Amino acid sequence: MPHFLTLLLSSLLIIIQLHVHVHVHARFVVEKSSVSVLSPTSLKSKHDAAIANFGIPDYGGFIVGSLFYPQTGAFGCLPFQGDKPFKSNTSRPTILLLDRGDCYFALKVWNAQQAGAAVVLVMDSIDESLITMDLPEDSTEADAYVEKIRIPSAFIEKSLGTTLKEAVRNAEDVVIRLDWRESVPHPDNRVEYEFWTNSNDECGTRCNEQMDFVKSFKGHAQILEKGGYTQFTPHYITWYCPEAFRFSSQCKSQCINHGRYCAPDPEQDFGVGYEGKDIVYENLRQLCVHRVSNETNRSWVWWDFVTDFHVRCSLKDKRYTKQCAEDVMKSLNLPVDKINDCMGDPEADVENKVLKIEQEMQIGHGARGDVTILPTLVINEVQYRGKLDRTAVLKAICSGFKETEEPPICLTSDIQTDECLERNGGCWQLLQQNITACKDTFRGRVCECPVVNGVQYKGDGYTTCEAYGPARCTINNGGCWSETKNELTATACSNSDISGCKCPSGFRGDGQNCEDVDECKERLACQCEGCSCTNTWGGYHCKCSGNQVYMKDQDTCIEKSGSKVGSFLVFLVLAVVVGGGLAGYMFYKYRLRSYMDSEIMSIMSQYMPLDSQNKVESHSETETLRQGAV
Ligand SMILES: *[C@@H]1O[C@H](CO)[C@@H](O)[C@H](O)[C@H]1NC(C)=O
Ligand SMILES: *[C@@H]1O[C@H](CO)[C@@H](O)[C@H](O)[C@H]1NC(C)=O
Ligand SMILES: *[C@@H]1O[C@H](CO)[C@@H](O)[C@H](O)[C@H]1NC(C)=O
Ligand SMILES: *[C@@H]1O[C@H](CO)[C@@H](O)[C@H](O)[C@H]1NC(C)=O
Repeated sequence: MPHFLTLLLSSLLIIIQLHVHVHVHARFVVEKSSVSVLSPTSLKSKHDAAIANFGIPDYGGFIVGSLFYPQTGAFGCLPFQGDKPFKSNTSRPTILLLDRGDCYFALKVWNAQQAGAAVVLVMDSIDESLITMDLPEDSTEADAYVEKIRIPSAFIEKSLGTTLKEAVRNAEDVVIRLDWRESVPHPDNRVEYEFWTNSNDECGTRCNEQMDFVKSFKGHAQILEKGGYTQFTPHYITWYCPEAFRFSSQCKSQCINHGRYCAPDPEQDFGVGYEGKDIVYENLRQLCVHRVSNETNRSWVWWDFVTDFHVRCSLKDKRYTKQCAEDVMKSLNLPVDKINDCMGDPEADVENKVLKIEQEMQIGHGARGDVTILPTLVINEVQYRGKLDRTAVLKAICSGFKETEEPPICLTSDIQTDECLERNGGCWQLLQQNITACKDTFRGRVCECPVVNGVQYKGDGYTTCEAYGPARCTINNGGCWSETKNELTATACSNSDISGCKCPSGFRGDGQNCEDVDECKERLACQCEGCSCTNTWGGYHCKCSGNQVYMKDQDTCIEKSGSKVGSFLVFLVLAVVVGGGLAGYMFYKYRLRSYMDSEIMSIMSQYMPLDSQNKVESHSETETLRQGAV
């Protein structure tokens, strides 16, 4: 029987309080970095330091700095006076030594970070073995700054601290190296890591932290897993109901398989909302999603399932249901039946193979201690300490590869996750134009319509983004339809409109797609007696019967005589019709000129050969043919 679980025997109430921390009387393994005193030479030595459970330790790296000890306020519980008094004036960063006591560890480190320190060492106040500096529990005030701690910190023994303090007091330049290069074992070219988590998304800061981490680390994790660089296994903590309480209503509502696997009630109220067993059952499903997909070498799908489930089926939104989970599975092409088989019958009085293994795994083995805190990340059998920050975790995993055998993702200097490389992060994009709404940010990818060459895109970022404002037609034609045929280009974008697309005349559609209007078939033009109509792309040709000529503006045919005089008369008639009479001739001169260029010239072409027929516009083609017939 797992010994630490027996704690539950004392009271069932513990079950409901366990949702944040599982404090047990078990071995608490301290993850170490090494501290070396480099100068003065009389103090040259090497020591262990316990990495704190907040801030960002530099796994795989090291830092050399000068040690400072504040003359006043050495507990670091109050903000330090002055403008970044510990900001280094040299190329060597400042390592600040502080005393234990009076306030939270995290507050000391926060104050030191604000004062410009690069690393904090906290020295113990009593002689004992090293402990892990943990997060403050249940302090909303602390939540605000813990999140912002980005410097590493470590806990050192009282004896070392005392020696260092003395040296600094004697005005010696104490130089120290903190080294995390051996913090994660790196025996071979594959890293095994596990993440202890929970499908409950409503337990406050810790739950948010783990979901934020899963969402932001997903891209990295999948690249590593697909490349075969890592073997990742998710784990879920379960509790169990003491024998004596097995048939109590509390155990029945919080456990499945007759009290064997339990989780605390999410609302901490047995009568209301979701019950503990809903959580266990969902945890089990997520485990099975991993198992089943692992069998087909698609283990990385777990990351998609968990993030999609969180978005679509959150407990907060009261959508934490089997149906919702199955919808997510289907959308990810997961075999629902197989996963249900893996989950087994929650009502049956039998062991569940999957959850039984989880309970056994909870207990420490090898170098790894018991899993006592959620969330917990274990890399190559060593518990990760520090904030679950995407870049920091990747560094830690990268430091677990045998040297020179790191995958490429570890070697790029600015370790971009490139979640955007993965199906464009699910965001909107214009592939051929290389325009995307996907952005890699500190918090993972976001889908946000971009600004390209000063042109703003607007939309939801997932399914739509549209260019907006002047000049929008210069980029991808403002997202509007455009097509070129026979060297003629038609477009639905107009710079004079600030948004939207409108098919040009002769075309019809929504602006994204425009189709040529068949003026002939639809009887929109050229319907005069005896006319023959030919549709063209973006227009039409009309041929009149007998001796008549077609006038496009008026959509009519008019008589012409067989002589040049006749054609001049035709010209006159045209001028009258178009210009409203000779009196308006001057006024319409310009328009007439262009009119001549097209209409008249095409009419003329029936009577005299033109040198430059190829310059005549397209709709005169039929006339050209006719000329041959004359
Ligand atoms: C840097 O110089 C300023 C001004 O001289 C001083 O107040 C501060 O203590 C110095 N900081 C360190 C870390 O030496
Ligand atoms: C996943 O599959 C690999 C073999 O491909 C196996 O070694 C590993 O144990 C599996 N993990 C789980 C949790 O089943
Ligand atoms: C999964 O990968 C393992 C090891 O690479 C291989 O032996 C196995 O055949 C693969 N399974 C499937 C279903 O592709
Ligand atoms: C697309 O844009 C990104 C970032 O602006 C750039 O790194 C990449 O080389 C571009 N790709 C192409 C095919 O133009």
